[in-house]
Amino acid sequence: MMALPPVAGRAMASALAAAQAATRRPSVIWLPFQECTGCTESITRSHSPTIEGMIFDMVSLDYQETLMAAAGFQAEEALHAAMKENHGKYLLIVDGSIPLGLDGAYSCIAGRTNLELLKEASRGAAAIVAMGSCAAFGGLPNAKPNPTGAVSVSDIIKDRPIVNVPGCPPIPVVMTAVLAHFITFGSLPELDAKGRPKAFYGETIHDRCYRRPFYDQGKFARTFDDEGARNGWCLFELGCKGPVTYNSCATTKWNAGTSWPVESGHGCLGCSEPDFWDAGGFYRALSMPAGPLQMVGVAAAVGVATGAAVGFLNRAKKNAAKAGHETTTLADLEK
Ligand code: SF4
Ligand code: SF4
Ligand code: F3S
Repeated sequence: MMALPPVAGRAMASALAAAQAATRRPSVIWLPFQECTGCTESITRSHSPTIEGMIFDMVSLDYQETLMAAAGFQAEEALHAAMKENHGKYLLIVDGSIPLGLDGAYSCIAGRTNLELLKEASRGAAAIVAMGSCAAFGGLPNAKPNPTGAVSVSDIIKDRPIVNVPGCPPIPVVMTAVLAHFITFGSLPELDAKGRPKAFYGETIHDRCYRRPFYDQGKFARTFDDEGARNGWCLFELGCKGPVTYNSCATTKWNAGTSWPVESGHGCLGCSEPDFWDAGGFYRALSMPAGPLQMVGVAAAVGVATGAAVGFLNRAKKNAAKAGHETTTLADLEK
């Protein structure tokens, strides 16, 4: 699943077994900032490895507000003890964005701002995982007009290795697989230009979508209950952002492989891409007036077969005519 060679499977199995046997398991500190707890909810659904398997056998989860038994002063003591004892070695996980407005007063824990806590905890971290689109890219709190001045982890921390695991929330097994990789190799996996693990964010949703043959044939659902929708046709015209969204929902799926958004009949919202809340509307087809996401859409379309490109162009023209906007030409797509 992580696109590693077969020998890596054995290395991973023995590293996880060693972590299980070790008296001192790798320390993990999870700080929740301006978030909705959806990312924590998500990781509890991981089936392989399970979160309880990780917590009890593989890592020492020294601080996680939602999952830990301690609260208040006890919890803060656990945090500071873990940072001191494992200085330079612990894995820091952050979910939620960091608000800079009002000197950070929008989100505080134990009377200290998220900004202060992040800077302090990052100093002793071996690496940082920005879990979820809020931590990775600013996410929902950063949506216009961004009233709290929310920013991402990598906007603030520049001197530590950071891996972005975006998604709103991220796929549970992707979250635990990144942790398993760190336990096994003591390093972060190979990343793409947006700091995401290539193994899970190397292809678009559209690349692996089972509805893709309908896209290529120009068969599109136009409402959520028309004949096309009932036949399982492509959701592009209902706003699916799969062609410009890098994530592995179409292959790993959700809930132990039960289903995923497109399989349940709703287009991809693009939740693992930066600024997806501000990308022009969840139910508007991609071929809309040129904006940052739409330009990415053009880039993605370049790779598809000519037939699909022509289909894309036709839909772009039709939508543009409806909206009265300039749009992409076939020459643009061919370029
Ligand atoms: Fe919630 Fe989504 Fe942000 Fe995670 S990324 S904290 S699920 S809003
Ligand atoms: Fe699947 Fe969406 Fe691509 Fe259609 S546009 S093939 S529904 S990812
Ligand atoms: Fe997010 Fe799209 Fe997957 S909305 S959950 S990346 S199908």
